[in-house]
Amino acid sequence: MMPTSEVPSAPLDRGQRPQILVIVAGSMAAVKAPSALRRLREAGAEVRVIATRAALEFITELSLATAADGPVATDESWFAARPTAQHLQLAKVDAAVVIGASAELLANAAHGHAGDLASATLLSVEGPVLWVPAMNERMWHHPAVQHNAATLRSWGHHFLGPEVGAFGTQGEGKGLGRMSEPEDIAAAALGLLRPVKQDLEGVRVLVSAGPTREYLDPVRFISNPSSGKMGFAVAEEARDRGAEVTLVTGPVNLLSPRGISVVRVETALELREAVVQAAQTAQVVVMTAAVADYRAANQASEKQAKVAGDVTIHLTPNPDILAELGQHKGGRVLVGFAMETHAGIERAAAKAQRKNADFILLNYPTREGTSFGGDDNQVTLVRPDATYEDWPRLSKREVAGKILDEVLRIRADRG
Ligand code: CTP
Repeated sequence: MMPTSEVPSAPLDRGQRPQILVIVAGSMAAVKAPSALRRLREAGAEVRVIATRAALEFITELSLATAADGPVATDESWFAARPTAQHLQLAKVDAAVVIGASAELLANAAHGHAGDLASATLLSVEGPVLWVPAMNERMWHHPAVQHNAATLRSWGHHFLGPEVGAFGTQGEGKGLGRMSEPEDIAAAALGLLRPVKQDLEGVRVLVSAGPTREYLDPVRFISNPSSGKMGFAVAEEARDRGAEVTLVTGPVNLLSPRGISVVRVETALELREAVVQAAQTAQVVVMTAAVADYRAANQASEKQAKVAGDVTIHLTPNPDILAELGQHKGGRVLVGFAMETHAGIERAAAKAQRKNADFILLNYPTREGTSFGGDDNQVTLVRPDATYEDWPRLSKREVAGKILDEVLRIRADRG
């Protein structure tokens, strides 16, 4: 997601008014649509509106039309307009935003259904799409909904929220499920419009992500809860900024992003082989992978049956891939991650020195709100000389953007 702070506060140039399609879907959150529409128009955008049949149960066509200062397209108008392809006309926009995105609309888009105007239009939109979901927490977390959202993300769609807070008709819901506020929706939609700077054009970026699995026997392994989201965010951000990206990932529950060469591995040794190979041509390497430090010294070729009493597993160290890359660094920029529970800056700086990394992103797993698998991250950039920058809590995509900004600064300094 684009950082809302970067959204221009001044109206956009009237000469090139961006066209934004606003799809209002059926939920209580539809009542926030007029305010978001007004804010988009105030910022200089031209808006087109589609209201789903369910949306019109929550809000009148008139209040949407008033806020949009224009007509509202509905399933009725779509059918009435036939044989004109109204959905194709509506899809010719610079960006689309779905306000109060429902589970049904997400499912339609993820499966290519086109039985109503909103779904048919979403299949034809050329510009970026921003989904602003509003639904009950249990629905949002259902694997079907999460799978559909993941599919859309892998196609480059953006998501804002749902957020934590009170929601529902009586504010009866607490927790995740509340739709983002109109000003944030408008800012995020406008943020999609800014041409993403192509400042990594032609740069070859290698990213490692996810955990590794160290097998004890064919059916048991040692691993860790890394979700891979941070590494995928770096890879996607680099791709969008023009880089040629290779992503080497351990086992994660994420779909391969388009336009990125993805290598899937399981063990630290496999990860090492793939990374060392790809690093030969890479100019930037970002190691987000949570590589297991040890593997079984003697991996059993057959499943081990249980025995009475305690068992001792003999572990042997895995190669340190980042340190190995550091030894043959050449002109590459090397970036590592570290997780520390105490003396973070000191330890991360020492780690950067030891591994010959240009900088390390330090995570504190004990920090409040930091969890494996989340969409946000709060990190501190630590350089080998122990200078550091504390970054606020940001989406992983925003963290990725700042990492790549620092990479570019280092490349520019080297000339
Ligand atoms: N890393 C690596 N190969 C390993 C272990 C870690 O390339 N075998 C990389 C990770 O991808 C990450 C950084 O090194 O970028 C993290 O190192 P960490 O595991 O924290 O460092 P260690 O040297 O193992 O430190 P510690 O002693 O604190 O575990």
